[in-house]
Amino acid sequence: MTAGPVDPTSTAAWARLAALAEGFSPDLRGWFAQDPGRVERWTHRAGDLLVDLSKSLADDAVLGALLDLADEVGLAARREAMFRGERINVTEDRAVLHTALRLPRDTPADQRPQVDGQDVVADVHAVLDRVYAFADRVRSGEWTGVTGEPVRTVVNIGIGGSDLGPVMAYEALAAYRQEGLECRFLSNIDPTDAATTLAGLDPATTLFVVSSKTFGTLETLTNARLCRAWLLDGLRERVGDDLDERAAVAQHFVAVSTALDKVADFGIDPDNAFGFWDWVGGRYSLDSAIGLSLAIAVGPDRFAEMLAGFHAVDEHFRTAEPARNVPLLMGLLNVWYVDHLGAQTHAVLPYSQLLHRFPAYLQQLTMESNGKSVRWDGSPVTTGTGEVFWGEPGTNGQHAFYQLLHQGTRLVPADFIAFANPAFPLADGEADVHELFLANFLAQTRALAFGKTAEEVRAEGTEGSVVPARVFSGNRPTTAIMAPELTPAVLGQLVALYEHITFVQGVVWGIDSFDQWGVELGKQLAQQVGPAIAGDADALAEQDPSTRALIAYYREHRRR
Ligand code: F6P
Repeated sequence: MTAGPVDPTSTAAWARLAALAEGFSPDLRGWFAQDPGRVERWTHRAGDLLVDLSKSLADDAVLGALLDLADEVGLAARREAMFRGERINVTEDRAVLHTALRLPRDTPADQRPQVDGQDVVADVHAVLDRVYAFADRVRSGEWTGVTGEPVRTVVNIGIGGSDLGPVMAYEALAAYRQEGLECRFLSNIDPTDAATTLAGLDPATTLFVVSSKTFGTLETLTNARLCRAWLLDGLRERVGDDLDERAAVAQHFVAVSTALDKVADFGIDPDNAFGFWDWVGGRYSLDSAIGLSLAIAVGPDRFAEMLAGFHAVDEHFRTAEPARNVPLLMGLLNVWYVDHLGAQTHAVLPYSQLLHRFPAYLQQLTMESNGKSVRWDGSPVTTGTGEVFWGEPGTNGQHAFYQLLHQGTRLVPADFIAFANPAFPLADGEADVHELFLANFLAQTRALAFGKTAEEVRAEGTEGSVVPARVFSGNRPTTAIMAPELTPAVLGQLVALYEHITFVQGVVWGIDSFDQWGVELGKQLAQQVGPAIAGDADALAEQDPSTRALIAYYREHRRR
């Protein structure tokens, strides 16, 4: 029988951390003043990423105890089990092999994971070859719709992991997109989303990618049917009533799924379906065929560069020594903040407008993974688990919520992400606008770490009762992540970094970071509530009083 997870609170390291937290009085000003080597010792590289942890709210004693904690909970063995393809997604009895999606084609035999005796690297590259060939045909105009016109717009229909990754990366890699080829992303079952996504599109030049791991998701299938009707109506207007509907669907719809039988039932030609595997979690699937719309937008070469970026950080995570292993250190520091310093949230603040969907992407990655109350053996967790991840790009956030970060009563660890070179360099007269932007990035992390004392406030000429309002306590933890520029490779590195941070936290807490049972009840109840909204008296009677009252409000106010 497999032993259950180690209870982190039973370890000697946890007891040390608890003791350190008790008397903890962080002093980033003092630590920096007394320790000229701190920046160098706490700054590490993972691929092209430079990660400065020196403004963390931790000292060497805390870091030492965290690394011991990782040892005591068996983190290295669990990591190896993941990379090897063991079924560490226990509640779904699945391997967890998103890292295999980015293994090079020529990975040596002894490093190729197998699932049920199958060489997954060969499977991955067989699908990638089809994805790349299809992307090239769309990009070159060789693939046409039924009227013979090339594709101008790709609409990805998907939700959760079948949407957030592709849309985040499409936005992030705006500088690499092919001109004249736009991608749009349709996810919400709110009909407004379909209406606004399709607005202004020409059915003759639109290609739909139905992306769904299960091909059973209500939102995605409903939207796919809406789009199919929109397409056929629109094409009929163009080519008349003798439109061949089967041919139209075959030319304008492709699919990405693990359930290829269901794809065929929808009318999509199996030749135009791209598969992946149950060992890829939805929120870990950007680098599978789920990235098809992105591959079309940026092209196979750029997509391959992104995969190489992912792989570089996988290798770092797998092989770097613990004291320099960035995902390990960042994951452990998050555990310290959540369980010993009481942090409930974690901000991710990209100083890059191109990363404006990155926090939303991370919300699914981190919160669907680690928002759990039981461990992988079914026993209750013994610690706090997943913090709330959130964020907005700088500098917009500065004029919205940074007040609370600087002077509020809550501890909010924050990751700041910035690039030395902008994707779109612009000058404002003499001023390099990107340098103004970076000045803000640097100023914020400095202000959060070192604050401003009452003496400093007074030295600037402020007196009296307003002084406390202008004091900044400092000692608010940040991590600064920098890279030369936001290339496809760097994007892959960033995503892999957060995947592994999430893994580290999940291992310490003993939870299965790869299932998502918590989304099921709402789905089930939506099926039950549906008939009640539509007027079924028996279904209405089954609802609770609050739901009944809300349905009554809806029925009274709807316009029919
Ligand atoms: O919200 C639950 C979930 O299963 C996610 O994990 C997943 O990414 C999303 O739904 C979409 O699922 P599918 O790709 O199967 O349509």
